[in-house]
Amino acid sequence: MSNMPTEFPSLGCGVGLRTKHYGDILNVWPAVDWFEVISENFMVAGGRPLYVLEAVRTHYPIVLHGVSLSIGSTDPLRREYLTRLKDLARRVEPAWISDHLCWTGVAGHNLHDLLPLPYTEEAVAHVAARVQQVQDFLGRRILLENVSTYLEYRHSTMPEWEFLTAVVERADCGILLDINNIFVSAFNHGFSPTEYLRAVPPHRVHQFHLAGYSDKGSFLHDTHDHPVADAVWELYAQAVRRCGRKSTLIEWDDHLPSFSVLQAEAAHAQRLAAVTHHAGTDARTDAAAAVDADYRA
Ligand SMILES: [Fe+2]
Repeated sequence: MSNMPTEFPSLGCGVGLRTKHYGDILNVWPAVDWFEVISENFMVAGGRPLYVLEAVRTHYPIVLHGVSLSIGSTDPLRREYLTRLKDLARRVEPAWISDHLCWTGVAGHNLHDLLPLPYTEEAVAHVAARVQQVQDFLGRRILLENVSTYLEYRHSTMPEWEFLTAVVERADCGILLDINNIFVSAFNHGFSPTEYLRAVPPHRVHQFHLAGYSDKGSFLHDTHDHPVADAVWELYAQAVRRCGRKSTLIEWDDHLPSFSVLQAEAAHAQRLAAVTHHAGTDARTDAAAAVDADYRA
C-alpha cells in the first residue's frame, strides 16, 4: 500500500453526468467543478458513452462511482469486474473510485439493489478484508458510501455508524458520506442523525453526497428525484463543521430537471459550505456545538 496515493483532492461541488445532459455539457462546457459518473455505464470497450466521458474528462475532474462491486457479498470478488474497472480508471484517470457499503447479490445473482449488511464483528472482518483486496488490485484506496436502509437485522450488535467506522479503519479506506442517506435512515429507524455525524471519523471523510428523498408517509425513500430538503442542508452544514469542506456531489437520477437546476443546487452547496466553514465556532448551532463538545470529550 506504500505507493498508493493518500490524498483525495478537494474538487469543490459537482453533479452527476447523465445522458439527458450530454448536449448541454458538450456544447457549452458549463461552470461545474467536477462530474461523478456511474462506473458500470462506462466499463465497455467503446461507443458513444465512453466517447462523451473522455471528452468531458478533458475539461473536468471525474470521479468513478460504482453500484455493483457488492463488497459485502459472500460471493468471491469478481476479477473480471475489477479488471474492467481498473481499465476504465487507467483510461480516464479519475480523482478517486467509490462504491457502497452494502451487498447487491449472492450466488451469482445481481439483485440491483443496495442492500444493508448485518452490523456485526464478523461482517466487519469480512468486508474489510475484501476492501483491502480491492485496493491492492486497483493500486489505490477507495471510498465507501453509507447507503439508505429500510430494514435492520435482529442480530446486529452495533449501530450503523460504528460498523462504518470499524470497516474503514480496519480496511484503511475512506468514506463517501451521503448526508441524505443518513437523514433517510435516521427517520426510518428512529436514530439521531447528529449522533451518526458525531461518530464518523472526520479524517476518513473525503466526499459528501446530497440528494432529494420522497416522503412515503411511514418512511422516507432515497429516490434522488427532488431538490435537497432543508433539513438535509442543515445536516450538511453540521457535517462541514465536523469534517471540513470536502468535495460535494449533487445526486439526481430520476425526473431529471434541466442542467441549470443541478448547477444551482451545486452552487448552493458551495455557498453553504463556504459560509459554514468560514463562520467557524461563532456560527455554530447548539446542536453542532454539542456534537463537537461530545467528540472532544
Ligand atoms: Fe449517494
